[in-house]
Amino acid sequence: MGVERGPDLRATATLRPHRVVVATNGLGPISGAPQMKTIIEPFRIKSVEPIRMTTRAERQRFIREAGYNLFGLRSEDVLIDLLTDSGTGAMSAPQWAAIMRGDESYAGSPSFHRFEAAVKNLMPFRHVIPTHQGRAAEAILFSILGGMGRRIPSNTHFDTTRGNIEASGAIGDDLVIAEARDPALVHPFKGNMDLDRLEAYLAEQGEQVPCVMLTITNNAGGGQPVSLGNIQATAEIAHRHGKLFLIDGCRFAENAWFIKQREPGQGERSIPEIVRDCFSVADGMTMSAKKDAFGNIGGWLAVNDDDLAEQARAHLIRTEGFPTYGGMAGRDLEALAQGLSEIVDEDYLRYRIQTNIYIVERLDALGVPVVKPAGGHAVFVDARGWLPHIDPLAYPGQALAVALYEIGGIRSCEIGTVMFGRQPDGSERPAAMDLVRLAIPRRTYTQSHADYVVEVFGDLAAIKDGLGGYRIAREPKALRHFTCAFEPLEGVSA
Ligand code: F0G
Repeated sequence: MGVERGPDLRATATLRPHRVVVATNGLGPISGAPQMKTIIEPFRIKSVEPIRMTTRAERQRFIREAGYNLFGLRSEDVLIDLLTDSGTGAMSAPQWAAIMRGDESYAGSPSFHRFEAAVKNLMPFRHVIPTHQGRAAEAILFSILGGMGRRIPSNTHFDTTRGNIEASGAIGDDLVIAEARDPALVHPFKGNMDLDRLEAYLAEQGEQVPCVMLTITNNAGGGQPVSLGNIQATAEIAHRHGKLFLIDGCRFAENAWFIKQREPGQGERSIPEIVRDCFSVADGMTMSAKKDAFGNIGGWLAVNDDDLAEQARAHLIRTEGFPTYGGMAGRDLEALAQGLSEIVDEDYLRYRIQTNIYIVERLDALGVPVVKPAGGHAVFVDARGWLPHIDPLAYPGQALAVALYEIGGIRSCEIGTVMFGRQPDGSERPAAMDLVRLAIPRRTYTQSHADYVVEVFGDLAAIKDGLGGYRIAREPKALRHFTCAFEPLEGVSA
């Protein structure tokens, strides 16, 4: 498949009252766009959590004490927490009400049946197996499908998925389209599987492959969507080669919104219809309900195959819990059942995606290199591109993340050489890209928070050329980015 420029998606409606206007995504008007030009947060706030204000001097001390690792901060010392969109969203009043209805019976709870019906309404799989979060579903799945010598292709595996594949002795391969590797390239479905590569891969090493996966949206690749056509074609190829086709569905509703906006012929269809089409060609899915189910915790594994389900449930009982609660309490199952009916709401999805577009447009205007087009759950900044004077092995992403905290109290996450640089043989290599992810929690922050984030980047622009890099002073053997300690190299402190 050739690398071609996708349509320009930059001209879009914005959240800002007086500047907004064109409800278009470069492919025509946004379907179902509201009559008014301002896209408002489609909720009122009933319960608030105060943000504790801090000074720059305090933050410099906090981050130093945390070994310059953002994961080491206390969350009360963070003003805007964009570390992750996972489990950090606001639940609705109906979700909190549903929590009171939670039935905590060990077996056969009605809360499970409501949860199961809500999942099957969108994802019509025969067996729905609740787990405490997405990685538990992955661990169960790959304890069955993985194993020494096996290979599992995906557009891009998320870290925990890859971790679980590798823990089983198998290898995970990423076959995303080439366009995904150019941060500035605008393409409507930058998360798509490269179908030619998948065909060739299965022809060459099909014997070792138990299943083909797709991550929707492609988190590790910038929260970029996968088209319905690509999902169907991937399923067709997998099935023609006799392989199971599985979806990591964490951000399925955001993905469906992009399909509705960008894929020819999909604009008039409802989000639940599009979601059902995505999953009806799959043989199973893993899910982190901390994303597009509006949960603070939860997940599931769903499959059609009876034998696979039986093995998975046996594993579940050993490691998570009985099959009608898995790793969750009855109240969590209720919150998710309700959350699944809210996440497919178009007013919510329009506002959700527009928030990211809004931030991306403004960072772009400031000259900050960002992954384009805006992704579904996060804004990704190209730190290597913005801080070219910092060598990748001095971690430009970490330098940017620390500076954002010191200047503005924003907590973000390095996705680059700190996360991926350490090689199995102990050597260190620059990652493919040094990105900083600003993940946007669901229904949690408002437009003024977004404006504040942009303002912090504006302040940073004035001093960024003086920022220094970091060295790692102490690191664990695996997954170092969570706990390692850094020391600043030469440079001006933010
Ligand atoms: N798959 C994807 C695509 C994810 O983004 C995540 C989690 C998981 C699986 C694992 O789910 O956390 O419930 O065990 N992503 C979070 C993040 C942690 O910050 O992107 P989990």
